[in-house]
Order: sequence, then structure tokens, then C-alpha cells
Amino acid sequence: MLRKGQVREWTEVSLLIPDSSAEAISNFLIDEGTTGIEEIDADQGWKRLKAYFPAKERKGGLLRRLYRYAKSLRDLYPELCRVQVETRSLAQENWGENWKRFFKPIEVTRHFLVSPPWSSLRLRKGQIPIIIHPGMAFGTGTHATTKLCLQALEEALKRKKRTVLDVGTGSGILAIAAAKAGAREVVAIDVDPVALNAARDNVRTNDVADRVRVRMGSVGKVLKEFDVVVANIDLKSLRRMRRPLFRHLKPGGILILSGILRRNEKDLLQFYLELEGLTPMKTTWEGEWSCLTFRKKLERPNRNPPVALRSPGEGALEAFSSGSS
Ligand SMILES: C[S@@+](CC[C@H](N)C(=O)[O-])C[C@H]1O[C@@H](n2cnc3c(N)ncnc32)[C@H](O)[C@@H]1O
Repeated sequence: MLRKGQVREWTEVSLLIPDSSAEAISNFLIDEGTTGIEEIDADQGWKRLKAYFPAKERKGGLLRRLYRYAKSLRDLYPELCRVQVETRSLAQENWGENWKRFFKPIEVTRHFLVSPPWSSLRLRKGQIPIIIHPGMAFGTGTHATTKLCLQALEEALKRKKRTVLDVGTGSGILAIAAAKAGAREVVAIDVDPVALNAARDNVRTNDVADRVRVRMGSVGKVLKEFDVVVANIDLKSLRRMRRPLFRHLKPGGILILSGILRRNEKDLLQFYLELEGLTPMKTTWEGEWSCLTFRKKLERPNRNPPVALRSPGEGALEAFSSGSS
């Protein structure tokens, strides 16, 4: 049965590729956010890969990047010049339970393992499971930006009992990871009602509803300061949110930004440093994606006096003072 907010239509991207390139192409598809890949042996030396994406994701852009990537690999795998890609739409209703077999647990960082609810897990010591219903919202753990944020959160949460704001929570994956890694309070916000449904569902499944509050809205509506603020959104939103994100950080707090391509990383870094209240800590990369981490300075320079947080009142999110998700 379909869950509320769950993807109803999928795009299957099917490619015939030389055997030897299968790992590189699979990694590319994972970075692009596929939620499952099936690998089928074809003729001698060839493989068919079938990757599944929620249909609402733009097919045109994905195919362009895929051809460009295949072209960049041709020196290593000359047969890739004959790569054949086919796509088709699949309605989940007609797919029975078959789709589930493509979603397997994946180790996304040293500590975090993301798994669909139906997998039985054998965890290593120190491994933290995050159970996500696949395909309901962005954030299955396979996308490079989610992985980079999870790695940055792992670092930021080495000190326990932190408070965390997750802006653009999607499936809730970062908020859930933060709670499971020892944060004492997490606020997860998103402007998309479908994502909020998915996040609430996942928060309950992971048994962290006592620490994670999921709320509708954007960063301007939050009333508190946090030890850690994470925002995996997109370049334009991150530029727009610079001041509110900064304001919601406690002095000494950590800001994690992703959803940006490498080619835009320097400009965004510079743009945030213009605030003069942040120190750059680390930049990490995976594929063409970047993640920036900053620390908020303890003393605030006079040129940027602290801006008052909104007082509770009209438009404020009642939830950020009490209540559960
Ligand atoms: C790239 S997804 C990230 C999901 C998840 N946090 C992850 O890291 O995998 C970005 C999410 O940000 C949400 N979003 C976009 N603009 C926003 C805004 N102004 N305020 C809050 N959320 C926003 C989208 O609805 C989407 O769910």
C-alpha cells in the first residue's frame, strides 16, 4: 500500500555499459540521487544497469549530465561511446512489492547507515542506523550533498547534548541523524508539505520524536539560537538565508551549508565571510558537490551588531518553545 506522500511515479533509467565501467557509472547515479540500482549481466563484457528516480526529478538534466559523464570516461572505457540509455515511467501501483528489492541499507558515513524499514540490519559497533522510507522526499542518504552534511554533522556533534536546526529537512534524514548522534534538541523545518509528512513519519519510525520537532516554515520563523545549524538547500536559497542562518547560531556555533556545486563554492564562502562573524572551518567535496563548514566567532564585531531574533507573536512558530512533532 502507498504511504501518504510516497512517490507514485518512478523513472527507470536503463543503460547498457561495459562491465568495467559499472562501478564508476553506479557511483555517478548514486551521487545523482538514485534510490536504487539493479545490475544485470548482459552479453559478454557488458552490463545493464537500471536506476530508479522519483519521476518528479528532472529527467532532461540528469540525462545530459549522464552523457557528459560517460563522455569524460571514454579515455578509460572507449566502448562507452556506444552507451545506450533508455528511460520509462513506472507507476508504483503496478510494481507490487518488487520495487523494494532495489533499496538496500547503505553505509553513508563511518557511523551512519541508512536503511529502508524492511531490511534486517546487522550493525557494527558504533554504527547508527537511520531508517528512511525511500522515495517520499529528498534525503535517502544516497545524494552527495546529504552524505557531506552527515559527515560534517558527525564532526560537529562530537560534543554531546547540542541543539541543532535543520533547514530544508526533506525526509528528515539530517535531523534524525543529529538526534541519534546525541543532540538533545533538533528543530527540522521545510516549506514542502510532502517533505514534512515524510519527515514526521521517519522521525516516528526512528523513535526520536522526543528530540526532533518537525515544523512547516523557513528559517525566518524560528525563534531560537542553536549550537549547530545545517542547511542543504541550493545556492540561491543559501544566499538569501545568509543573515537568518547566522542569527540562529549561538556564538561559537557551527554552520554547515551544502547543496552547492564546486564551481560556486568560493563565491558563497566569500559571501558568508563578508558578514565578518564567521570563521571558515572546513570544505569537503564529493563529485561535483561541496559542503562548507563555519564557526561563529565568540565576539561579535561592532560593524555587525547582533540583530534581535523575532519576538514570539504573529507568524512565529509556536512549536519552537514547546510541544512535540
Ligand atoms: C536538497 S533537499 C535536502 C533534504 C535533506 N536535508 C538532505 O540533506 O538530504 C532541500 C529541502 O529544502 C526544502 N526547502 C527549499 N527551500 C526552503 C526554504 N526556504 N526553507 C525551508 N526549506 C526549504 C525543500 O523543500 C527540500 O525538502
